Amino acid sequence: MNSSDLRTKFLAFFKARGHAIVPSSSLIPDDPSVLFTTAGMQQFKKYFTGELDPIKDFGSKNVTSVQKCFRTSDIDEVGDESHLTFFEMMGNFSFGGYFKKEAIIYAHEFIAKELGLSIDYVSVFEGDADVPADMESEEIWKSLGVKDVRKFGRKDNFWGPTGAEGPCGPTSEVYVRGVEVWNLVFNEYYQDKNKKLTPLKVKGIDTGMGLERLAMMVQNTQTIFETDLFKNPLSTFMHLPGVDDKSGRIFADHIRGATFLIADGVLPSNKDAGYILRRLIRRAIFHSRKLTGEDNGGGFKLSTSRTLEAVKNTISFYGNSFENYKNLLVNEKDILKIFKEEQNKFIQTLDNGIREFNRLHNSKSKVQGESGGSYKIFGKISAEDAFHLYQSYGLPREIIRDLCVEREAEFDDKGFDKEFEKHQEISRAGVEKKFGGHGLTLDTGELKAGSEEEQRKVIKFHTATHLLHQALLEVLGNEVEQRGSDITPERTRFDFTFPRKVTPEELKRIEEIVNEKIKADLPVKVIEMSKAEAEKTGALKFFKGKYSDKVTVYFIGDSLENAFNKEFCAGPHVSRTSEIGKFKITKEESSSAGIRRIRAIIE
Ligand code: SER
Repeated sequence: MNSSDLRTKFLAFFKARGHAIVPSSSLIPDDPSVLFTTAGMQQFKKYFTGELDPIKDFGSKNVTSVQKCFRTSDIDEVGDESHLTFFEMMGNFSFGGYFKKEAIIYAHEFIAKELGLSIDYVSVFEGDADVPADMESEEIWKSLGVKDVRKFGRKDNFWGPTGAEGPCGPTSEVYVRGVEVWNLVFNEYYQDKNKKLTPLKVKGIDTGMGLERLAMMVQNTQTIFETDLFKNPLSTFMHLPGVDDKSGRIFADHIRGATFLIADGVLPSNKDAGYILRRLIRRAIFHSRKLTGEDNGGGFKLSTSRTLEAVKNTISFYGNSFENYKNLLVNEKDILKIFKEEQNKFIQTLDNGIREFNRLHNSKSKVQGESGGSYKIFGKISAEDAFHLYQSYGLPREIIRDLCVEREAEFDDKGFDKEFEKHQEISRAGVEKKFGGHGLTLDTGELKAGSEEEQRKVIKFHTATHLLHQALLEVLGNEVEQRGSDITPERTRFDFTFPRKVTPEELKRIEEIVNEKIKADLPVKVIEMSKAEAEKTGALKFFKGKYSDKVTVYFIGDSLENAFNKEFCAGPHVSRTSEIGKFKITKEESSSAGIRRIRAIIE
């Protein structure tokens, strides 16, 4: 039975038992306390609490759905037989219509009779200080002939709430071939923000069964990746001679996840859902370079059209196979465009990053000669090296980890965390004490950045000022030298040496360059190094600046080598230039003999 038939069968089964069919909601829920829709019950939260009336909205107290879900909790597990980020969850729900008995009878009937699968065992809640043991469910299962009823505590047999608060309750899980396929939740409580449980006025049912896992049982495959859900759209991309399965599976999962997130309106960015999307796309691209069979071990050639083809296949497979997806997808052209733009942005970073990884790795590996041949002792990538790849080359952490696995080098997760914290402290200290290395402090002089909002603006102006400095050098040449800078939440003011008035054409060009760099969404990164090393990089310095032996250099661009601008600076800065907004020069004037002054705002 293919997955499309499974969905239809499930919905029809519950429709025949008085359930209204409700379409899947978006992967991006209304609830601001959660990033994604992780369960079928999420769109029904207010029906469980009694805030909304199911009869009015669905004509029934009982509903059924096949819900698109996205979970980040399993992201590191993706690549094994059964873990995914995006999946579909089939469920039946009742808001005061029925409770344990019917829910268990339905589940048993569907699995054992409709699908003819044999239930290994089930589990029920064993009870604790706050919630009693679920004897009732145990008896119901036994009356249906399921003898193996196992009991577990809060960790395994209690579900919810999603987000900060909501309905929750004890569960009963159904296992087939040792895999949990169905989770029946008996929503009896409301858990508030302080984790206090209060009985719900009306008891409810919330069940969830992953379509991919069920397809694996019904189609009798060893992994979810062999089911039609992956095979049909993605198998040509997943399996290539000589490429390990894990890369193929990660690629397939991430392509599917990214496609659905974009389809529901998420755009790649540096925060929240957009950040997760960016990570998925980047990791999929990383693994795809192997799947195209063009990795030459050093640099690599990526077949960008193949990644796009995989996205395309996913769209047409789902668009054609399931009513739920026919109308909800952002159109195919836009999905591909968004994916492609992100891909283009990342390719250069990845290429440079892998080269640097190889350089570091080779420099620490030894070739051992033996009479019969030679073998390589693989080097360790230290936490500092890993952080350097992350910070200066923009390689995401999981890709550094993946590269380490490929090259049999150790990845020091804890050390990486420590490096990360160290650098965050540096930039926090930057906010608190010294601002921008321009000799200004955050709360003295003209620079008053009180509220978070104002600080945010000042930070944007700070990065914009670096861009301005560089654009001045490009347009006016080396006579330009910074003489002062003053930033408020309203504007930036920049003084520099130059012997004459700057012409309107030159000002226009300078403004254009800054805006081009903003639009290019360049990363802004920091690196700590010795003063001597920093000087060698050619980073700009403030002539009055007093620098200690260890300095931080901020650079704007993918790597220190190809950065548009690099400066000795204590930060803080935005993390990508696109956060700045539109830059506009408002005035150019003489400040004193041989010194010009430019004022600019952000619109
Ligand atoms: N809410 C439960 C789960 O997600 C059952 O639907 O597992």
